[in-house]
Amino acid sequence: MVEKSYEWWQKTVVYQVYPLSFKDSTGNGIGDLAGIIEKLDYLKELGVETIWFSPFFESPQQDHGYDVTNYRKIDQVYGSMSDFDKLVKEIHDRNMKIVLDLVLNHTSNKHPWFLESASSKDNPKRDWYIWRDGKKPGGKKPPNNWKSLIGGSAWRYYKNTDQWVYFHFLPFQPDLNYRNSEVKEEMFDIMRFWLDKGVDGFRLDILYMIYEDKMLRNNPFTWNLTLPDNKPASFFQYHKYDVNRPETFEFTIELRKLMEEYEPERLLVGEIFGPIEYLRKYYGPNNNGLHMVFLFEFTSIPFNAKKYRKIISRIEKALAVPYTPTYVFGNHDRDRYISRLKDDPYKAKILTTMQLTLRGVPYIYYGEEIGMSDVKFSLKTSEDPLGRRFSKFPFPQAGKLLRFSLTRDRCRTPMQWNKEPNAGFSSNPNAKTWLKVSDNYKEINVAKEERDPSSLLNCYKRLLKVRRENIALQEGIFEFIELGKLNKKCLAYKRIHDTQEIFIYLNFSNKEILLKTPVQKPKLVFSTLSNRKALNPNAYDGNIKLLPLEGIIFR
Ligand code: NOJ
Repeated sequence: MVEKSYEWWQKTVVYQVYPLSFKDSTGNGIGDLAGIIEKLDYLKELGVETIWFSPFFESPQQDHGYDVTNYRKIDQVYGSMSDFDKLVKEIHDRNMKIVLDLVLNHTSNKHPWFLESASSKDNPKRDWYIWRDGKKPGGKKPPNNWKSLIGGSAWRYYKNTDQWVYFHFLPFQPDLNYRNSEVKEEMFDIMRFWLDKGVDGFRLDILYMIYEDKMLRNNPFTWNLTLPDNKPASFFQYHKYDVNRPETFEFTIELRKLMEEYEPERLLVGEIFGPIEYLRKYYGPNNNGLHMVFLFEFTSIPFNAKKYRKIISRIEKALAVPYTPTYVFGNHDRDRYISRLKDDPYKAKILTTMQLTLRGVPYIYYGEEIGMSDVKFSLKTSEDPLGRRFSKFPFPQAGKLLRFSLTRDRCRTPMQWNKEPNAGFSSNPNAKTWLKVSDNYKEINVAKEERDPSSLLNCYKRLLKVRRENIALQEGIFEFIELGKLNKKCLAYKRIHDTQEIFIYLNFSNKEILLKTPVQKPKLVFSTLSNRKALNPNAYDGNIKLLPLEGIIFR
């Protein structure tokens, strides 16, 4: 039997650009599309294959683009439609793919649709959003007990029509009503608009919230205050009726059909939070839903081989071939992973080696490759609306308990290109950047790390090259290697393809580990330690010594 070859999206490596913070070409302190184009060669050389852009559609920027007022227009902050067309061309010319970030669930409350909808009960757009009377008697209480993802009622009262409108995230982001077929058709048209321009796929923002229970039944109580990655619960409410609805699973199948109208097929990756059994449903009953969803569990566990092993085996079981898992360490909402590792580059290299050699698609957040870390910001003056909201919390530490950082500004600071003013982010050395640049930019920056063979950046580059050159790392199945007692400290697995077997050993401990290798004459293809000597196949005695915090790949 001839094996079906992998589609591009099954084996790609995705890099997330946060456009406000990548490169400012105009000198106003804000990143833009022309700036991104300047840096495409850097991304190509790094070895990533697909670039996902956080939204750059027209928006009042209250949630930095996740509050859209026109889905068919580029916000002037970032440039123009011709800059966008150029961006697509330049990316494709480099044989890379482009993925846009689409916020289907809600618009800005300044979107003309919403302004119309809110204006009167009989406006033709009234039913484009979810309006309800308040609870009887009096109607001065929200229609039900649903809480927004980040606390407080999910309903906002509008006096002019004496009704409440539903929002699941922030009050200025009202949810669209997908039970209205006009809404659905309009959003599908918007997707076609971008696909026809050559876009290769979409990252779908909080997709699990698209539909809500028709009867608006109250959500049950739960003890969870924080938003765990494996349960849709927060602020003592289990989100039973407002997320993960059966209609949303069906919706993913419609979306997939739309992607299949294009050749080669376009990619859909969904942002969903919940237990793996639920995440699995978004792939569709016959792998005919989303191509993949983000798996976030890696964003919150300690540096511990056993814990990683547990998560990987759960994922491998729930999303066995032909399903495509994803491996995510961070994004524009989360703490930067190197900060969780207390900026230890050795540990970062272990995790990177793991991320880039597991089966599935790795997602790299801009700056991760050079070890950019979180930056402290005051909550009161936070650019991120969540930060300002949490600044009103009675206990400053309370926000820390939430899955979101207190202010997401901390992980969105300008990319650190070099040691020049503004870390080379802005073309104007005197520009006041929209968020301050991290103090560590003279030490942590692209230019410096490019020169240093042992840098984290060069580790990413070497790994991505190894991944490109070894088919087992792109298409091979996954199997753990049992190490008995050492399983606690060392994670080992292999990737198996028809024509090749690759072995990965990751030493999570500070001690040397001597291991028996399963192959006769192993050929070392990678070590996190750039100066590690090649294994000498002739002097090889069947053992391999892993140095403290070393990760190796051999075949
Ligand atoms: C999830 C996005 O990742 C986040 O940045 C945004 O604020 C919310 N969705 C609302 O769109």
